[in-house]
Amino acid sequence: MTIIKPTTRTLAMTRRSFLGATAAGATGLALGFPRPAIAQGAPLKVGLMLPFSGTYAKLGQFIENGFNLYVEQKSGVLGGRKVEFIRLDDESKPETATDNMNRLVSRDKADVVIGTVHSGVAMAMVKVARDSGVPLIIPNAGADEATGPLCAPNIFRTSFSNWQPAHPMGKVVFDEGHRNVVTITWRYTAGQQMVGAFAEGFEAAGGTVVDALTVPFPEVEFQALITRIATLKPDAVFAFFAGGGAVKFVTDYAAAGLKGKIPLYGTGFLTDGTLKAQGDAATGIRTTLHYADDLDTPANKSFLSAFEAKTGETGDIYAVQGFDAAALLEAGLGATDGNASAREALFAAMAGAKIDSPRGPLSFSAAHNPIQNIYLREVRDGRNALVSVAGEAVQDPARGCRMA
Ligand code: PHB
Repeated sequence: MTIIKPTTRTLAMTRRSFLGATAAGATGLALGFPRPAIAQGAPLKVGLMLPFSGTYAKLGQFIENGFNLYVEQKSGVLGGRKVEFIRLDDESKPETATDNMNRLVSRDKADVVIGTVHSGVAMAMVKVARDSGVPLIIPNAGADEATGPLCAPNIFRTSFSNWQPAHPMGKVVFDEGHRNVVTITWRYTAGQQMVGAFAEGFEAAGGTVVDALTVPFPEVEFQALITRIATLKPDAVFAFFAGGGAVKFVTDYAAAGLKGKIPLYGTGFLTDGTLKAQGDAATGIRTTLHYADDLDTPANKSFLSAFEAKTGETGDIYAVQGFDAAALLEAGLGATDGNASAREALFAAMAGAKIDSPRGPLSFSAAHNPIQNIYLREVRDGRNALVSVAGEAVQDPARGCRMA
């Protein structure tokens, strides 16, 4: 049985139902009929706006499963409130994102919104969140603006800023002896910001980006660009692709004969949640990310075994980010007795949360972006194995953030 603590809202509703009951039949109560049990609080409506179709479908599914796993471990209750979901497939389409977010906030009256994966979609969500004040937790999208110039008291992120996992890779690639690098990515916010942050770190170390190749999102026709890489013969390549696109790029790169000849680096999205499909084509790829499969901590081990027991799949960074989004929400609701409308207290508790995440220690900057370790990993035996800590407690510079 689920025991629900009475909350401010529960008590308010109980009082309303009591007033309703007295209007309908005060005499009944006066005559000593049994008092109605204390009404349970209305469920907390959590809007889940994620890609459930398209090249990022698997990412959305793992975020949802991670979030659900945490909620299930708490018997379906966060901060005393039973959790109810409103799911919305955003298809990673920025053009419908504002309408979708407005639907969740205005029509469905979500108490909190969790979303999304794609930076362009997240930008639209951030704008609606700023206008409406609805609490928003971003469980993946890295758009630097969300915790930069568009930062706001009600906007939090449990993932990363695009700058965060990409910048440390600049020094790693330079230190591994490479001087001339080609970058390749999809032509949209996430790719451009990650490539930009990598170049910032790489050029500061003394390296040169000799060409910056792009394809429109979510295209996967990489052949012409891979041929161009073969012609340019750089020392190394830095790439951002994710989901289905990452599977295709890594397998195309190997099929073109470049694997083992021109080392491929990237942010960890290139090989996270994709290794089964990439097979041996991914072996040896080095990436930087705020997670590694074999982090030897109790939090990571218990997360991976619980995730596998629930889904039959191996947990990845997306599942971790979803799991931690629920942990962050619980940290806020725990401080307000489940009242998501007590926003000042909710946000203060979320901002001060310290989470023992499967990724390692997780806390939040003044801009509400994670402060976290960035790990160098290498694909070995079908896993993103830890090589070293590329940056400890890395904080995004939060350029342009003025928290109201
Ligand atoms: C993004 O659009 O911000 C994004 C998408 C997928 C990833 C990482 C970042 O794996």
